[in-house]
Amino acid sequence: MFSVDREVRVLLVDDQLLVGEMVGLLLEKQIEQGWHLHHIQNPLEAFESARDFKPTVMLVDLEMPELNGLQLLESIRAEPSMVNLPVIILSGYEDSETKAQAFERGASDYLVKLPDSVELVARLRHHTTGFIATRQRDQAERRSKRLAMELRKRNAQLVDLNKIFQQANEALKDEIVVRDARLKSIGSVGIEMSEIQDLDVMMQHILSEARHLVGAEAGAILTRDEDDLVVRYAQNDAHENAGRNAADLAGGFRVSISAGSISGKVTMTGQKINVRDVYSIPPDSGYTFMASYDERTGYRTKSLFTYPLSTASGEVLGVIQLANPFNKEGERKGGFDSGDEKLIENFASMASVALERALLTDSMIMRMVAIAETHDPEETGAHVNRVAGYSRVMFEAWAQRRGMDRSEMERRRDRLSNAARLHDVGKIGISDSILKKPGKLDLPEYAAMQMHTVIGARFFKGYQTEYDEIAREVALHHHEHWDGTGYPGETPVDELFHSPPETPIRSGLVGDEIPIEARIVGLADVYDALSSKRSYKDAWPESKVLQEIADLSGKQFDPELVEIFLDRSDRMRVIRETYKSDSA
Ligand code: C2E
Ligand code: SIN
Ligand code: SIN
Ligand code: FE
Ligand code: FE
Repeated sequence: MFSVDREVRVLLVDDQLLVGEMVGLLLEKQIEQGWHLHHIQNPLEAFESARDFKPTVMLVDLEMPELNGLQLLESIRAEPSMVNLPVIILSGYEDSETKAQAFERGASDYLVKLPDSVELVARLRHHTTGFIATRQRDQAERRSKRLAMELRKRNAQLVDLNKIFQQANEALKDEIVVRDARLKSIGSVGIEMSEIQDLDVMMQHILSEARHLVGAEAGAILTRDEDDLVVRYAQNDAHENAGRNAADLAGGFRVSISAGSISGKVTMTGQKINVRDVYSIPPDSGYTFMASYDERTGYRTKSLFTYPLSTASGEVLGVIQLANPFNKEGERKGGFDSGDEKLIENFASMASVALERALLTDSMIMRMVAIAETHDPEETGAHVNRVAGYSRVMFEAWAQRRGMDRSEMERRRDRLSNAARLHDVGKIGISDSILKKPGKLDLPEYAAMQMHTVIGARFFKGYQTEYDEIAREVALHHHEHWDGTGYPGETPVDELFHSPPETPIRSGLVGDEIPIEARIVGLADVYDALSSKRSYKDAWPESKVLQEIADLSGKQFDPELVEIFLDRSDRMRVIRETYKSDSA
C-alpha cells in the first residue's frame, strides 16, 4: 500500500526549458523506477496541468515572467482541491527574507537551484509520502462516515425487525407462509459483505510500514477488550530470524488497562509514552513495564514507544507499540526521536480509522449474530469469533501447502473469517422450542433444525460479491460430511425452503465437492461445540475432543484438515484464550 516509488508525480513549473531537462536528469533513476515528471513553462497553465496530471508534489520556480512563484503559490493555497498539495519553491536565492516569504504563503519546502540528486529525491519522496498518507486518511474517514450513517439506518431496521420476531414468534410457529414473509424481510435488510475490508491485512501492513520507517525491530498493536488490552498483531524480526512466529508468541497477551502498564496508561490518558529503557523507568513516572510480556516471548524490550489509536471523538481503541529501533547502518539506537514520533503518528491515525471502520462492520455482523442469539443462547459472539479464528489458522496452512500466493491467501482467509462468523445466522428461522430444547432432538425436530443451513444461505442469495458467495457456501454446507452423510447436499435451496423435509436429510455432498471453506468451518464448529457446554450437552475435556476429531477423520472430516488441525492444537489454544466465553 505504501510503495511510494510507484506513486511519486512531480509537476515542475519553471519558465526555463533547461531547468526541466536538468531536473529530468537528476531524477533519471527514479523515473526508470516509475516516478513521473511533468514540466510546464507557463505558470498560468499550472491549474489545468495539475487537474490532468494529478501531481503528488509540485516544484515551483520563484521567478517567472507571467506570474511569479509566490503568486502562484497563493492561488494554489486558495484552491480547495489543492490546499494540501506539497509545493516546493525552487529559487536562485538563499536569503532568509525570501525563504520566510515563501513559507508564509504556504510553501511546504524551499530548495536552492539546483540541489543535488540525493537531496532532491529525498525531499520529493518525503513530501509525497506525507501527501499520500493524508489523502488516504481523508478517504478512509469519508468512507467511514458514510458507512456509519448507513449502519445507523440498518441498525434501526434491525431493531424493528427484532421486535417483530419476538412478537410474532409464538403466533408464527410452523406457519410456513408467514415464516416465508418474515424471512424475506430479513433478507431484504441484507448484509453487503463487500463493505467489509480486510482489516487484518491492512493492520499488518500498517504495522510493518511503521516499523520499517523507523527501523523498529519489534512492534505490536493492542486493542481494547472491555477492561483489558489484547495483543492482536505482533511482529518481531528477532523472533522471525530465529524461526519463531511472533504472532504465536505474543498474540492474545492481555494487560489490564488499570494495572499501571505503559499501554494501559496510554489508553487511559490518550497521551503517547516514549521510553528509552523500559527496565529503568523512574518509580515516580506513574507506569511500569510489564516484564511478564518479555518473559512470555523470550524477547528483551529496551526502547518502547507507545502511541494511542484514538477516534476523531477521542475514544481510545487501542495502542500501537514499537520497540528497539536500529539506524540505517544497522546499529541499535538509544531510543525513538521526535522525527520517529511524527512518522508513527501518521500510521497511528490510519490504523485508528481502519479499526474504527472495522468495529462498525463488526457491530453489523454481531447484530446479525445477536438476533440469532436471542433464539440460540449458545451461538454467542465468543463462539463465532473462535470458530472464525480456528478457521483462519486452518485455511492458512491449507493454502500454504498449495503454494498459494500470500496476498491471495490473506484475502481469502479474511473473507472466510467473516463468513465463519455468520455460519449459523440461519438459526434465526428455527423455532425456540427446538433450539432451546434441553435434551435430545427427535427426528422431525432434527429435520427442522437442519433447515438453518438453507435459511442462512438465502440471506446472501441476492448478492454477487465474493464475500457473499463464500458466506453463502459456508452457511449452506458447513454440516456436510466428507463421506457424504451430512446435509443439505445438492437439494435445491428454494424447494427445501418451501417444503422442509419431514425426516432428517441423510445424504449430502461428498469429499472435495464440499467447498473448502465449508469443510474448514464444519471442523472448527464441531471442535468448538464439543469443547463448550450446550443446552443438550456438557463441555468435553480437550483430550477427548481431539480424540473424537481424530476418530472422525475420513468420516465426517477431510483427513488433510484433521492433520492440519491436530498439528496446530497450540495455536487453537491461543485463540480460545483470546475469545473466552462465559459459558465455556
Ligand atoms: P451445535 O451445537 O453448534 O453443534 C454443531 C455440530 O457439532 C453438530 O452438528 C455436530 O456435528 C457436532 N456435535 C455437537 N455435539 C456433538 C456430540 O456430542 N458428539 C459429536 N460427535 N458431535 C457433536 P449437527 O448435529 O448438525 O447439529 C446442528 C445444530 O443442531 C447444533 O449446533 C445444535 O444447535 C442443534 N442440535 C443438534 N443436536 C441437538 C440435540 O440433541 N439437542 C438440541 N437441543 N439441539 C441439537
Ligand atoms: C513484541 O515483542 O512482539 C512486541 C514488541 C513490544 O511491544 O514490546
Ligand atoms: C505490553 O503492553 O504488552 C507490555 C508493555 C507495557 O507495559 O505496556
Ligand atoms: Fe450450524
Ligand atoms: Fe455453530
